[in-house]
Amino acid sequence: MANQKGGVGKTTTPHNLGMALSRGCRVLFIDLDAQGNNLTDACGLEAEELKATAYEVLDGGVRLSDAICQLGPRLDLLPAGRNLAVAELAFASRLGRENLLKKALAGKAYDVALIDCPPSLGLLTVNALNAANGVLIPVQAEYYALAGLDLIQETMQGVIENLNPALALLGILLTFYDGRKSLNRDVASGLADRWGAQVFRTRIRDNVALAEAPSNGQSIFEYRARSYGAADYEALAKEFMKRIKNK
Ligand SMILES: Nc1ncnc2c1ncn2[C@@H]1O[C@H](COP(=O)(O)OP(=O)(O)O)[C@@H](O)[C@H]1O
Ligand SMILES: [Mg+2]
Repeated sequence: MANQKGGVGKTTTPHNLGMALSRGCRVLFIDLDAQGNNLTDACGLEAEELKATAYEVLDGGVRLSDAICQLGPRLDLLPAGRNLAVAELAFASRLGRENLLKKALAGKAYDVALIDCPPSLGLLTVNALNAANGVLIPVQAEYYALAGLDLIQETMQGVIENLNPALALLGILLTFYDGRKSLNRDVASGLADRWGAQVFRTRIRDNVALAEAPSNGQSIFEYRARSYGAADYEALAKEFMKRIKNK
């Protein structure tokens, strides 16, 4: 999940999508965002509970398996701590700095790994793009959403040319959608004009239950299984599986 903008659903999407997928697949959540309200927080984990975090794993001092928190029978999390905020600087001049995550994941047996990226296109996001098979770009249905996409695409192109030729665009996901607002409908049709079939058919509607769930450390399926948010993320899980099989 990548987008240099904050507040677009980068964290909400892997959380709820991963929950739905973990009913049938082995899923790994990877949190690469040091900031508050990251995936680690949304899953209800406290800093004191963590044995080790993404920083130590990227640094090479701790194995992935020793940092993982088990959230469910088929759901694991590599958590992020506040120390990840200094990773960009700490790893900046290290040889192989774009390969740290890829190396840590080598040979691990998961069907799907969902990476929550920080709101920037720096070294951590480049590590994610280098380790990934595909990128899902959540965009909020607002005026500047379209402008930001060119910048992510440029970064993706740089990664494809220099590091990971197999990287694919899985799709652009419209979030916070409210069909009663003409601006939202305009953004949706602007996206469709420019990106065509690369836009997910599923739209995540604006739904307050999605905003409330993480403060209980719950996904939407635990918090309000009958909400719009649960229905939308359920639909996304189906479409996501179809798309990754076709890539
Ligand atoms: N579809 C939605 N409807 C309403 N609130 C949402 C929705 N998706 C996310 N939120 C809330 O909006 C805020 C930003 O979402 P988040 O996933 O944290 O974005 P990002 O990780 O891109 O910064 C969070 O408080 C989240 O709970
Ligand atoms: Mg986030």
